[in-house]
Amino acid sequence: MAKKLQDIAEGAWGVRSSFHSLIALFVFGLVVVAVYMNRESRQMIEDLMLHQPASNEVSTCNLFSGKWVFDNQSYPSYKERDCSFMSDQLACEKFGRKDLSYQNWRWQPCHCDLPRFNATTLLERFRDKKLVFVGDSLNRNQWVSMVCLVEKSIPSPLKYMRTNGSLITFKAIEYNASIEFYWAPLLVESNSDDPVNHRLPDRIVRVQSIEKHARHWTDADVLVFNSYLWWRRPKMKVLWGSFESPDGIFKEVDMPRCYEMAIRTWSNWLEVHVNRSKTRVFFVSMSPTHQRGEEWGSSPGQNCYSETLPISKEGYWGSGSDREMMRVVEAEISELKHRGLNIQMLNITQLSEYRKEGHPSIYRKQWEPLSEEQLSKPTSYADCIHWCLPGVPDVWNELLYAHIFS
Ligand SMILES: *[C@@H]1O[C@H](CO)[C@@H](O)[C@H](O)[C@H]1NC(C)=O
Ligand SMILES: *[C@@H]1O[C@H](CO)[C@@H](O)[C@H](O)[C@H]1NC(C)=O
Ligand SMILES: *[C@@H]1O[C@H](CO)[C@@H](O)[C@H](O)[C@H]1NC(C)=O
Ligand SMILES: *[C@@H]1O[C@H](CO)[C@@H](O)[C@H](O)[C@H]1NC(C)=O
Ligand SMILES: *[C@@H]1O[C@H](CO)[C@@H](O)[C@H](O)[C@H]1NC(C)=O
Ligand SMILES: *[C@@H]1O[C@H](CO)[C@@H](O)[C@H](O)[C@H]1NC(C)=O
Repeated sequence: MAKKLQDIAEGAWGVRSSFHSLIALFVFGLVVVAVYMNRESRQMIEDLMLHQPASNEVSTCNLFSGKWVFDNQSYPSYKERDCSFMSDQLACEKFGRKDLSYQNWRWQPCHCDLPRFNATTLLERFRDKKLVFVGDSLNRNQWVSMVCLVEKSIPSPLKYMRTNGSLITFKAIEYNASIEFYWAPLLVESNSDDPVNHRLPDRIVRVQSIEKHARHWTDADVLVFNSYLWWRRPKMKVLWGSFESPDGIFKEVDMPRCYEMAIRTWSNWLEVHVNRSKTRVFFVSMSPTHQRGEEWGSSPGQNCYSETLPISKEGYWGSGSDREMMRVVEAEISELKHRGLNIQMLNITQLSEYRKEGHPSIYRKQWEPLSEEQLSKPTSYADCIHWCLPGVPDVWNELLYAHIFS
């Protein structure tokens, strides 16, 4: 705005006759008065002033609202083959993907810049501490990204990865820093809790029981949760009683009521167990899928397979992302705030919605051999749920990083 006013002013001084100059000055004055009288314009001026990027604005700026900018100078943050702990589920380049531009997009918030991720700073922050990701394979996706972001700055004898049941621990030995992932796709207890064999036809949830999982992360310094995709069905079987006991009661419960019950159990646990002066808690909002091409103007039957560019339509939102379920979590988080526990939502849904090209599609390890029929129709087995690395989850971690240090 200041620039615009200056343009008008310069135009006015350019008028030769002094009379014209006077009139121009008068008009200029009116414009200035009008602008300052108008509330909307005042808002606009404030917005424009906020637009100047400055690091101390991160705490007030909404980092989740912005756009993707192609930036192959600063991205990717690491090379896929250089990450010692990369997962074959996410290594798209290794499994034959040729267009690699999905690695080059930077997230640009509207009113500020994301702070640059610095692995050393993060490891220092977690010296003698523990960062734990708890949730499903999308959260594991983010955890692998986090490990890749930090591990390149640690020489190989000074780090290791260890699996113990549902818990995977990455350790930076010199820092005594742990970055862990705990498999609990529904957060509460369920019949999908086995870290390897969890694909069962019937989903049974003990919506009131979380202790069995929670005892593995009670001593974390930072907790990052998610839970969404495993709930995506109209009804679920809820179990009152234990899996072992013969007199458990099973009941079909509608979604999202069932989700609400589980999130309530989760929040009750946090309220009682989280040491407010030690532990920070984050919840990552739902990760969008790109299964239905017609939603972004591709032909019916298409999905994320063969997509090479992000969606540019501002505010794009796919039908797979259920706002009602997001509201369930938001309501619970705001309830916890009243009870003195501050949980930060990492609102990654909208920004990830744009990235229809960021999924592995067919470029990942296939755990089961593919049939002739599948091979002839790549869309039929494309993974449009997880994300290639380096890629979108790196930005989720940059957002987490920004919040940890704000
Ligand atoms: C970045 O992208 C531009 C435009 O596609 C290309 O000309 C340039 O070679 C790329 N630079 C790098 C470092 O990949
Ligand atoms: C990361 O931070 C450390 C200090 O914590 C600093 O010495 C280093 O230069 C930073 N690295 C980058 C790439 O900014
Ligand atoms: C190492 O870190 C853990 C937390 O993850 C902490 O409990 C322990 O005391 C630390 N060890 C030392 C020697 O500081
Ligand atoms: C694995 O975890 C269990 C607790 O679930 C613990 O008792 C055991 O010591 C752990 N094993 C290793 C090798 O860390
Ligand atoms: C909470 O954490 C702080 C900082 O680590 C510690 O000093 C305090 O003893 C803890 N409180 C409880 C009840 O464990
Ligand atoms: C998260 O983002 C969505 C869409 O951008 C928005 O509707 C919602 O209010 C946001 N929630 C929070 C807690 O910021």
